Amino acid sequence: MRTIAFVTQKGGSGKSTLASSLAVAAHEAGERVFVIDMDPQHSLLSWAKTRGLDDVPVSSVTPGRLPATLAALEKNGFTLAIIDTAGAEGGSAEAAMKAADLNIIPSRPNIFDLWASEQTRKTLKSLRAEFVFVLNQCPPAQQTARVEEGAAALEAMGGLITPLVLARVDYQEAARHGWGVTEINPHGAAAVEIKALWSSVKRRLARGKAKAPVRRAA
Ligand SMILES: Nc1ncnc2c1ncn2[C@@H]1O[C@H](COP(=O)(O)OP(=O)(O)O)[C@@H](O)[C@H]1O
Ligand SMILES: [Mg+2]
Repeated sequence: MRTIAFVTQKGGSGKSTLASSLAVAAHEAGERVFVIDMDPQHSLLSWAKTRGLDDVPVSSVTPGRLPATLAALEKNGFTLAIIDTAGAEGGSAEAAMKAADLNIIPSRPNIFDLWASEQTRKTLKSLRAEFVFVLNQCPPAQQTARVEEGAAALEAMGGLITPLVLARVDYQEAARHGWGVTEINPHGAAAVEIKALWSSVKRRLARGKAKAPVRRAA
C-alpha cells in the first residue's frame, strides 16, 4: 500500500477538494482507496456522508492511531491511503507527513500561499519526508505571469507536479454532492486534469518505491 498526504498549513488551498477527487479518480483507475480525515473540521467525513457509498471509505484517525491504522489497511488489501490534514501545523499534520510515501502541498498562485508553502516545505525537509507541490485554483487563462511566477517559485522550492489545476466549478460542485470531478462531469476539463494528476502521483510513487526504502522514525 502507498500513502499520500495532503499537507499545508494554509487553509483554503484545496487539500480536501483535491483529496476527494483524486481518491475517486484513483478508485476508478483500479486502486483500493481508503481516505483518512485528520482535520477536526471533518470535511471529508461530511463528503463521504453525502456520497452515501462505501466504494471510497473515509474515516477519521487520531495521530497516535495512524501507524496502526495504516498497517491494518494494508493487511486488508487497500492499495492507496489518502490522508487529508488540517490547515495548521501540529500533531496530526506531522504524523501524516511522517507516514506518507509522498506529501502533496497544494498552493494557490498568490504570495501568501507561496510563503505558507515555504513554511510547510521547511517542516517536511526537517522530517526528511518526500513532497511535491501542486499549483491549484489557477486562473483560467493559464499562461498569466502570476501563474508562471508561482510555478517557478514552487519548482525552485523542490518540485512541482503536473498538471496545473485550474479554478473550475466542477471541483466545487463535485465536492458539494459527495462526488469526484470524474463522476460529476466525466469528460470535462477538471476530470481530465485530475486523471492527469493521478498519473503524475502514481509515477512519482513508483519512483519512490524503486529507490532503496528510507526508514523514517515512527
Ligand atoms: N481547483 C479548484 N477550483 C475551484 N474551487 C476550488 C478548487 N480547489 C479548491 N476550491 C475551493 O476552494 C475552497 C477551499 O478548498 P478546500 O479543499 O476546502 O481547502 P483546504 O482543505 O486546503 O482548506 C473550497 O471552497 C473549494 O471548493
Ligand atoms: Mg480541508
